[in-house]
Amino acid sequence: MATYRIAVLPGDGIGQEVTPEAVRVLKAVGKGAGVGFEFEQALVGGAAIDATGHPLAPGTLDLCRRSHAILFGAVGGPKWDTVAHERRPERGLLALRKELDLYANLRPAKCFPMLVDASPLKRSVVEGTDLMVIRELTGGLYFGEPRGVERLADGGARAVNTMVYTSREIERIARTAFEVARKRRKRLASVDKANVLVVSQLWREVVTRVARDYPDVTLEHVLVDNCAMALVHRPSRFDTIVTENTFGDILSDEAAILAGSMGMLPSASLGGSVALYEPVHGTAPDIAGKGIANPIAAILSTAMLLRYTLSLEKDADRVERAVVRVLEQGHRTADIAGPGARTVGTKEMADLIVRDVEDQY
Ligand code: IPM
Ligand code: MG
Repeated sequence: MATYRIAVLPGDGIGQEVTPEAVRVLKAVGKGAGVGFEFEQALVGGAAIDATGHPLAPGTLDLCRRSHAILFGAVGGPKWDTVAHERRPERGLLALRKELDLYANLRPAKCFPMLVDASPLKRSVVEGTDLMVIRELTGGLYFGEPRGVERLADGGARAVNTMVYTSREIERIARTAFEVARKRRKRLASVDKANVLVVSQLWREVVTRVARDYPDVTLEHVLVDNCAMALVHRPSRFDTIVTENTFGDILSDEAAILAGSMGMLPSASLGGSVALYEPVHGTAPDIAGKGIANPIAAILSTAMLLRYTLSLEKDADRVERAVVRVLEQGHRTADIAGPGARTVGTKEMADLIVRDVEDQY
């Protein structure tokens, strides 16, 4: 029996509540499909700061390197808002991305038909939304040098971040994007700010060059401000979107609203030898510890793990089908329930999905 080691990094807030439910789903798949999973847990984010003083606990990176895939929860929270910048919980995640060379972040945003009314946007806008945001994850403003703050003689200060990309970094994310678009509806929107930024001009030039290798994919260039508007105006015009780190951070949160709730959105970070799978929603301090968080984003992240790391397409389909069916039966966590609707908690929602997965084998 094939056996895979999965590094489990729940992190903080609702990450600690939804990640164990995702693990249960993987266990059900393992049992049904005859695949062995070994789960090993490690600390990251605020939880790691509390226990070890570092947002990426010693040993966590090692475990990730030794694993076939990483199941990540979320990091951060008000408790650590005052810790020094380079020690913040978020640094743990950023260090993992950089150290493991996870340069390609895939964030699908799909509006499930039974959830069209869960989005605060009009039904006529969100209906039919099915897009994939591909965010470059290890370059740009997040990591560019120089960066820092200097105190000035006049009593003020000067702070710098640098948006920097090499053509090699742009080319590899562009290739990922074209490959993904090719398996979807063969339309790629490359998002930049080429009317102002030289980095974006290089971005556009390289993406245009790479496009020659993918004549079957239709490429368009969209300015980021225009893209932000189009996403809430006519999202169905997009299929695959590729963009640099910061633009992707912002646009993928915007896209989440199209899917009804951030609690629905999974993600995969690929590129290095081990991939990381995480729900997009973050730690949600306002609802943490209440047992009401939506586990679906974490569960759909396991479907991405099955598909992208283990090539277990059919099992990935089973997990996604289970989610759809449970939603079709009318079960809702609070974030996707209409006013007055009966809701289920994190565990109950996961129970329903696990049972459906089990029934499919
Ligand atoms: C995300 C998050 C992270 C980011 C934070 C937690 C560092 O917002 O994954 O989108 O900015 O990349
Ligand atoms: Mg973000």
